Amino acid sequence: MIYIEDDFLTEEQFTALKNKVDSHYSPIEPRELFDNYDFKNEPDKYILPIARSGDWLDSCIPNAPQCIPALKKMEETLINQGVQELQNWSSWFQYSVDTMSLPPHRDQAVRKSLPKDTYTCVIYTSDWKPNWGGEFVVGSPIFNDEGLVESLTDFTHSIEPKPNRMVVWSREEWHMVNALTVNDPNYVRSFFGTSWSSIESKEHDQNPFQRFYFTAET
Ligand SMILES: [Fe+2]
Repeated sequence: MIYIEDDFLTEEQFTALKNKVDSHYSPIEPRELFDNYDFKNEPDKYILPIARSGDWLDSCIPNAPQCIPALKKMEETLINQGVQELQNWSSWFQYSVDTMSLPPHRDQAVRKSLPKDTYTCVIYTSDWKPNWGGEFVVGSPIFNDEGLVESLTDFTHSIEPKPNRMVVWSREEWHMVNALTVNDPNYVRSFFGTSWSSIESKEHDQNPFQRFYFTAET
């Protein structure tokens, strides 16, 4: 499932969120995120406290009240999409700089939900113009001989990271992010990201330190 909504927050709510996201940026070098991937060293992310109770307010209070309107509306949106037993897991700010891309992957599943019952919901907070790249692309995986995803084909979406655009995807969706082509060393592409579990099918919790899937596992 992929769902997009533009002008998601009011201008006032969006500006407060954008300023909060901007305030936690510390300069990063362009890098291949998945080369030597280390979950303890993610300079491109600022991660808010995990909402172990399932209540997103735990991530926002006391230090990030600017995220409250976004999380509230994200929760309403997911429920309106028919998602059952919704629980928030994590919230974070993510940054990329010119020339950076994200190779094909799926996001991790959360709690005991399967990937198809786990959701990522983001709001883009940076400026964007045509030809700047950084589109969020969805398609079908092509695996190499070792069963690892190598590329995507049969694209279904190419979503421009426009400010105040909300995108939600269920985590069985294979996706990648096109390289940024802004030609400005000071440009930072940023978003507020959140993860959500729903109905639970697995017997055991998912590994919270596995952030990505590169194989066809479920
Ligand atoms: Fe992802």
